Amino acid sequence: MDKFRIQGGVPLEGEIAVGGAKNSALPALAACLLTSDPVTLRRIPPVRDIGTMQQLLQHAGADLEVADGSVTVRAARLDHPEAPYDLVKTMRASSLVLGPLVARTGRARVSMPGGCAIGARPINLHVAALEQLGAEIQHSHGYVEARAPHGLKGALVHFDRITVTGTEDVLMAAVLAEGETVIHNAAREPEVQDLALLLNKMGACVEGAGTSTIRVQGVAALHGTEHTIIADRIEAGTFLIAGAITRGDLVVSGFVPEHVYALTAKLRQAGVDITAAGEGALRVRAASRLRATDITTEEFPGFATDLQAQYMALITLAEGISFISETIFENRFMHTQELARMGATIRVEGRQAIVAGVTELTGAQVIASDLRASASLVLAGLVAHGETLVDRVYHIDRGYEKIEEKLARAGARIERII
Ligand code: EPZ
Repeated sequence: MDKFRIQGGVPLEGEIAVGGAKNSALPALAACLLTSDPVTLRRIPPVRDIGTMQQLLQHAGADLEVADGSVTVRAARLDHPEAPYDLVKTMRASSLVLGPLVARTGRARVSMPGGCAIGARPINLHVAALEQLGAEIQHSHGYVEARAPHGLKGALVHFDRITVTGTEDVLMAAVLAEGETVIHNAAREPEVQDLALLLNKMGACVEGAGTSTIRVQGVAALHGTEHTIIADRIEAGTFLIAGAITRGDLVVSGFVPEHVYALTAKLRQAGVDITAAGEGALRVRAASRLRATDITTEEFPGFATDLQAQYMALITLAEGISFISETIFENRFMHTQELARMGATIRVEGRQAIVAGVTELTGAQVIASDLRASASLVLAGLVAHGETLVDRVYHIDRGYEKIEEKLARAGARIERII
C-alpha cells in the first residue's frame, strides 16, 4: 500500500499549476449520457475517481476514448442503465448517473452508496427531486430503481437542504424533461455553473446556474460538443495553504482566484501575504507566525468544507486559539487525531474543533482516512520537524494528480514509497 515519506522544514518556492476540477469532471462525464452524439471533455484530471466514473459509463454501454487529459464519450447505446455496487461503493458520486440515465433511457438502477468516512451522505434528496419530475422510484436489494416510461415532466423542485450533486443530478434530468423545471435552494458551486455551461453547449436551456434558483426549459434531445473543465479550486486552495504552512514564497496558477475568496480572506486575516500574480494566479508568502483565525464551513461562496482539514493543519501552528465549525458533514474531523500525534492540540466537541496553536509539529507515522484528511496530513508533514510517513495515500490519489510530484517541483522533500 503506497505511502508518502516527507522530510519537513523546506519552504516551498516557485510555481505550481492547478489541474482540472475532479468535482466538475464527474458530473460532466455523467452528462455525456444525455446524448448519442460524441462529447469531448478537456482538462480531465487523471485521478482515481475519474477512472471509476469512466468505468460506470462503459458499464452502462458508452464508448470512451481517453487521450492525454481529454475524454470523448459516445453514449450511442445504453443497454445497461445501471451503476453496480462494486463501483458505487468506491465512489459516492456514482449517484450522478441516476438523473441522466432516467432522462435518456426512462430507467436506471443505481446502487445505494454505502457509508462514507466523513458522514452518512444519503441520496434521499436526489431521489425526492427525481420523483418530483415524475420518476417512479423503488428501493430493493440495496439499489434505487427509477422508471419514467413516459418521460419526465418539468416541475418545481425544492431542496430541503443544499446539495451539490443533488442539484447536478436533477439538473441533468430536467434538461430532457417536458416543460419547465425550477430548482429552488440549488447549490451555487462553480462546478454546478460549469455543468450548466456544458449542458447549454449541448443544446439545453438552463438559466440561473450559480444562483439558488435554476430555471430549465426541457428539450427533446441534446447534441454533442466540446468543453474544457474548470480548474480545481480545492487543489488550488490546498497548494496555497502548502505555501503558507511552509512559510515559503509560492505562485499557484491556472485557476480562478474568486473561487477561493473565502479561503484567501481567512489566510489574510491569519497574517498570510497573498497577492495577484497575473491572470489566474496568486502568490502566497508567510514569514512570521500566523494569528489564530476561526472558520465555519458553508456552501459556496462560504468557506469550502473540502478545505477545512487543510486549513486546520495550518492553524495548528498559529498563535492563539482557533474555532473550526464544520456545518456540512457530521464526521469530518478524523484528521484531528492524526494531527494530534504530530503535536497539535485540538479538542473536538460535536461539530466544532478547538485548536490551540503550538510552536512546532513533529514528524510521525500517520494514516489517511479520506481524501481531504490525507491532504491535511501531507501539509502537516511538510512543516513538521523530522520525517512523516503518511499511509493509505490511495485516498489522496482519488482527488489529486501526482501531488507528491507537484510539491517536489516546488522544493518539498516528499517521495512515494510503494
Ligand atoms: C459534493 O459532495 C462534493 N463531491 C464533495 O467533495 C463536497 O464535500 C460536498 O459536495 C460539499 O461541498 C462532488 O462534487 C463529487 P452534498 P455531495 O450533497 O454532493 C447531505 C471531495 O472531497 N445530503 O452537497 O455528496 C449530505 O450528507 C468531496 O471532493 C443529504 O442528507 O455533498 C451532507 O451532509 C467530499 N441527502 C450535505 O447534505 C442527500 O440526498 C451536503 O452534501 C444529499 C446530501
